[in-house]
Amino acid sequence: MAKNTSIHGEWSTRFAYILAATGSAVGLGNIWKFPYITGENGGGAFVIVYLACVLAIGIPIMMAETLLGRRGRQSPINTMAALAIESEVDKRWSYLGWMGVIAGVLILSYYSVIAGWAIAYVFKAIFGGFSSETAVVKQSFDDLIASPGQLIFWHSVFMIATMTVVMRGVRGGLEKAVQLLMPTLFVLLIILVAYAMSTGEAYFQGLNFLFSPDFSEIDGHAVLTAMGHAFFTLGLGMGAIMVYGSYLPSGISIMKTSLYIAGADTLVALFAGIAIFPLVFANGLEPGSGPGLIFQTLPLAFGNMTAGWLFGILFFVLLVFAALTSSISLIEPFVAWLVENRGFSRINASVVSGGLTWLLGVSVALSFNVWSDVTIFEKNIFDCLDYLTANLMLPLGGFFISVFAGWFMKEQFVKEELAIPDVIYQVWLILVRYVAPISVSLVFLNVLGIF
Ligand code: PHE
Repeated sequence: MAKNTSIHGEWSTRFAYILAATGSAVGLGNIWKFPYITGENGGGAFVIVYLACVLAIGIPIMMAETLLGRRGRQSPINTMAALAIESEVDKRWSYLGWMGVIAGVLILSYYSVIAGWAIAYVFKAIFGGFSSETAVVKQSFDDLIASPGQLIFWHSVFMIATMTVVMRGVRGGLEKAVQLLMPTLFVLLIILVAYAMSTGEAYFQGLNFLFSPDFSEIDGHAVLTAMGHAFFTLGLGMGAIMVYGSYLPSGISIMKTSLYIAGADTLVALFAGIAIFPLVFANGLEPGSGPGLIFQTLPLAFGNMTAGWLFGILFFVLLVFAALTSSISLIEPFVAWLVENRGFSRINASVVSGGLTWLLGVSVALSFNVWSDVTIFEKNIFDCLDYLTANLMLPLGGFFISVFAGWFMKEQFVKEELAIPDVIYQVWLILVRYVAPISVSLVFLNVLGIF
């Protein structure tokens, strides 16, 4: 490709890229979503399916998506169009970029509402809202989600924060912020794991729930959820890692960086699980209690710890930052496209894309209270958006990314970008050509009841 850098700029170092991409991967998916969907799907067996999906589908697709971005050097829509031309295939491959942009907006609309819960919890921690009594903590969560005003307010705060960062360009503030925040979050999670160990019997019950598989709990839907989550947690299938890859200087190994990013992401999720399930059992809560799970367990832990209020504040602040480093990657493909094709300044692009997302998010906030009866396919708006994006759009996006990189892009270009020894290349090729697309198709067919 003629252009060797993106018009939007480049990461300053390899480390900066790893941090930014890890920031995109590590977020609410690891700490909020992974524990509650594991709880809803019976535990250990679900975790194994999820880990298998990360390894066999997630990592190879992450490499594919990054290499497409780096070769195209533009927003996912224009990248796909440019790569299609370069490899002399149908230009309609750019629709893949469009699907990504739409998925990003849909995900961010509910992501921001949940991140808003986390901001609200920072204030609960500051004002002594955490308690050692299960009933009090539960009530406090129920009060929050019953209030449209509060949910919309905190959602707005999070969207404004996202737009402010995106406006300034990713290199400006984010590279530095992530450098400090991600390691701190990791340390705090370890403190929580240590706390969970002090629950004695419940600690082992928690570990047992998380790691001993009972495959009778697993049906096609559980596998779809696990696979969808592998895409969601790694930030794959919608162009986030593609656009980050487009800012990646040439010569940096896509394979190594992908392995680091996926490894860090998986570790954070597992630590979150090890910290949370013992608390669930120690306090007589239900593992399958849904999206409120961490908001009902962690305040209890903090309510019981010495100086728990302080850890509580720190934890929820870091969770908000982890969400912020993901949210900017959800909106960046859209922003980059508005700048490239519509001649918008970054500021206007951020305001337009953020405003649209905010509006959609308001309907998500209402779906927890006044609009809880509004259902589509028996799901409320929040559940519906989550299902549509994480379980359908991301795997579908991943399917087409692997098919494009494996079958349509000229091999010479793929090899130039990956620059890995031939044996490893052959293994990767089998994974993107066969394993990933066939696995995604089988899971879809099974859920549709076709086999
Ligand atoms: N990976 C993020 C998380 O786990 C969410 C995300 C999804 C980010 C898709 C980018 C793209 O919270």
